Amino acid sequence: MSKIFVTGGAGFIGSAFIRMILDEHPDAEIVNYDALTYAGNLENLRGVDERRHVFVKGDICDRSAVLAAMPEDSDAIFNFAAESHVDRSIDSADEFLRTNIIGTQVLLDAARIRNVGRFVQISTDEVMGSLPDESDNYFTEDSPLQPNSPYAASKAGAEFVVRAACETFGLDAVITRCGNNYGPRQFPEKLIPLMIANAMNDEPLPVYGDGRNVRDWIYVEDHCRAIWLAYEKGKSGEVYNVGARNERQNLDVVASILDTLGKPHSLITHVTDRLGHDRRYAIDPMKCEKELGWQPEVSWEDGLKKTIDWYRENQDWVDHVRNGAYREYYKAMYASRLESGR
Ligand code: NAD
Ligand code: DAU
Repeated sequence: MSKIFVTGGAGFIGSAFIRMILDEHPDAEIVNYDALTYAGNLENLRGVDERRHVFVKGDICDRSAVLAAMPEDSDAIFNFAAESHVDRSIDSADEFLRTNIIGTQVLLDAARIRNVGRFVQISTDEVMGSLPDESDNYFTEDSPLQPNSPYAASKAGAEFVVRAACETFGLDAVITRCGNNYGPRQFPEKLIPLMIANAMNDEPLPVYGDGRNVRDWIYVEDHCRAIWLAYEKGKSGEVYNVGARNERQNLDVVASILDTLGKPHSLITHVTDRLGHDRRYAIDPMKCEKELGWQPEVSWEDGLKKTIDWYRENQDWVDHVRNGAYREYYKAMYASRLESGR
């Protein structure tokens, strides 16, 4: 029997992880602890086996609530809970520092008190900053931490407190650093679901700057398998970079979405750039492949098609999350950008 404590399991990646673990590990029992912020959605968990999945609504910064929810002697904590969107962090950083750093520290303390077997911190390639265009450079586990956005800085801070808990208290912990995920149930503030939702509604597709920024895309289930392998096979104190060797320029991603949906490229609208916009992310996943025996299984073409099909077939989910609060967010973030264009 594996007893697992997952935080942020009502979000995009956390819910995909829970679905995968419940399907593939019949002995696993999960406590899913999530504050249900704007990004958390219990619909993401519809249909999971409720006998082995207990949902607890709570904030990871709330020490007594975390301790009350966390079973003694759990095998692992998987910390997905975070404020995760770069644009929101540029607008206001406070909540990012609170949840992503303080919240992680609270979980680390609770892990020691509750005698948890291993702490798995879900980090991001963004902690390593930006790479130059079209270079042979890649992020490795030895790349310096050079976060450029408040979000990335808060995730780097989280990595530091995890490291400190390992060094100071001998806590067993591993860190995974992945690139840009895509797949079903991603909140439509991120590039791919936002562009799919806008294109389905014949609305403009707001591309920041020249649209030539590069991201290294990975299908969400491939990321989740890497996280599980890091838990099972990773060495304590180590970092594992996770990437599918799939660099794409934003404009090419957007064009592929329009072509799959049969929509015109004239919907593409260049808008004011993001402040401090990282130019290129590209991951060398060699360590993950060699030490964990991980390989991505879903090609970009299949993954993008599966993703677009899911959004087409789940219009109710899309309509539900594009509610009043989302419309306010979209207006605040995009109205002046779309008016001024470039
Ligand atoms: P998400 O925004 O979709 O989900 C975040 C979840 O955390 C939500 O369910 C939310 O309710 C919950 N949460 C937020 N603040 C909380 C708090 N204070 N207490 C408890 N729960 C809280 O994010 P995601 O895209 O699924 O990302 C999950 C993790 O993976 C994050 O740590 C993120 O930094 C990391 N990551 C994401 C990507 C990506 O491309 N999306 C890539 C690499 C790493
Ligand atoms: O690399 C991993 C990271 O990927 C994760 O840690 C973050 O949680 C996740 O949000 C993501 O960060 P990005 O900033 O790369 O993702 P986003 O989807 O916001 O943007 C991807 C690219 O698309 C980026 O170059 C900005 C651009 N973009 C984004 C949006 C939302 C646009 O051109 N227009 C848009 O409307």
